[in-house]
This record gives sequence, structure tokens and C-alpha cells, in this order.
Amino acid sequence: MANIVYIATSIDGFIADRNNKLDWLHMVPNPENIDTGFNNFLNGIDAILMGRNTFESIADMNIAWPYPIPVFVYSRRLKVIPGELKDKVSVVCGEPEEVTTMLNNKGYWRLYIDGGKTIQSFFRKDLIDQLTITMIPVLLGDGVPLFGTLPKHLEFKLASVKTVLGEMVCTTYRRKI
Ligand SMILES: NC(=O)c1ccc[n+]([C@@H]2O[C@H](COP(=O)([O-])OP(=O)(O)OC[C@H]3O[C@@H](n4cnc5c(N)ncnc54)[C@H](OP(=O)(O)O)[C@@H]3O)[C@@H](O)[C@H]2O)c1
Repeated sequence: MANIVYIATSIDGFIADRNNKLDWLHMVPNPENIDTGFNNFLNGIDAILMGRNTFESIADMNIAWPYPIPVFVYSRRLKVIPGELKDKVSVVCGEPEEVTTMLNNKGYWRLYIDGGKTIQSFFRKDLIDQLTITMIPVLLGDGVPLFGTLPKHLEFKLASVKTVLGEMVCTTYRRKI
């Protein structure tokens, strides 16, 4: 079993700008629309746990639902999933360890944990096993942070570093045990 983060940040550690915009994620030209690794990553994942804000930002994009695997939205107050997504998305709440156990018991062993506050609540409980960050070469100055406060230091081991499209750096770390 593993809880895995796969996310893009600015150099200064933000995952969305101060208006929740993500257009800067696409600032590095990719004219041939090369898969920078996300599809390959998703092939090794059983289910996604995403924070309510991340879910709402994807649902508001008016694009075809992008995930071929079950998605669980982490929320204390969301009760209803819009009709067209009901078969693909469910709502869960509880402490990170409870939610992890509940999803593992359903047979979802490799979980993709997504959304800033959601990831932070998992880091605070030391429940992230692997972290891949693709750093986009921009300073945003303000926005939605990836990281927050922690009750203790968490050490990671470097697993790989790749340059993507010549301008972004994709770094994978695994939790030291
Ligand atoms: N750059 C990237 O690769 C990337 C990736 C993902 C997301 N994003 C962006 O990041 C932004 C969203 O991140 P975010 O930090 O605002 O939040 P988020 O984690 O997506 O959502 C936060 C919400 O998740 C729920 N939640 C979090 N911890 C919880 C807990 N312990 N128990 C129960 N529910 C919990 C709460 O929902 P309730 O308030 O309903 O209780 C909370 O308000 C969006 O702009 C999104 O587009 C960027």
C-alpha cells in the first residue's frame, strides 16, 4: 500500500496562483503534446483522493472527466456529487488514517493524494510514502501552498530527478523508513 503525491509547483512552492488559476502550469511549450509522465503515473494508481477545492476546480473546467479510475472527494461538508459524475466520484471524510484504511479495505492500495490542504493533512500524520514534484520555472509570489506546518521533520530519500521538456524538473522522493 502507498499514499502518493504527484503534483506541479512553482519555484516558490505554490500549486495554484492567488486566484486559483493554473494557466502557468502550461507555460513551457509542448507543441507535440508529449505526455510528461502523468499518464504513466496514473496507470500505477488504484484510486484518487482529492480535496474538495481541487474537485471543484476540475468540475468547473467544463472538460471531459479526466480520470479513468475511482475518485474520492475529501470533504466534511460536500454531500452531493453532480449527477453526471455520480458513477465516478464519491465523497469521503474522516481522519487521514481512517480514510486510508477505508480505501485500502475496498481494495484500493495505491492512492494518489491530491490538493494542497489534503496533502498537508496527510503529511501532518506522516502518511505520504512517495512525493513527485514537477517544478515549473516561475515565481508566483502568492497562491495556494503545497506545504504547511508539521509536528515533526519528515525525511525522504531521493528516488529520481528528470528534466521535462528541457525546462521543468521532476523530482521523486520516497519516505525514509
Ligand atoms: N499544481 C497542481 O498540480 C495542482 C494539483 C491539485 C490541485 N491544484 C490546485 O490547488 C487548489 C486546491 O488546493 P487547496 O489547498 O485549496 O485544497 P484541497 O485539498 O483541494 O481541498 C481542501 C478541502 O478538502 C477537504 N479536506 C482537507 N483536509 C481534510 C480533512 N482532514 N478531513 C476532511 N476534509 C478535508 C476540505 O473540504 P471541506 O471544506 O468541504 O470540508 C477542505 O476545505 C485548486 O486551485 C487546484 O486547482 C493544483
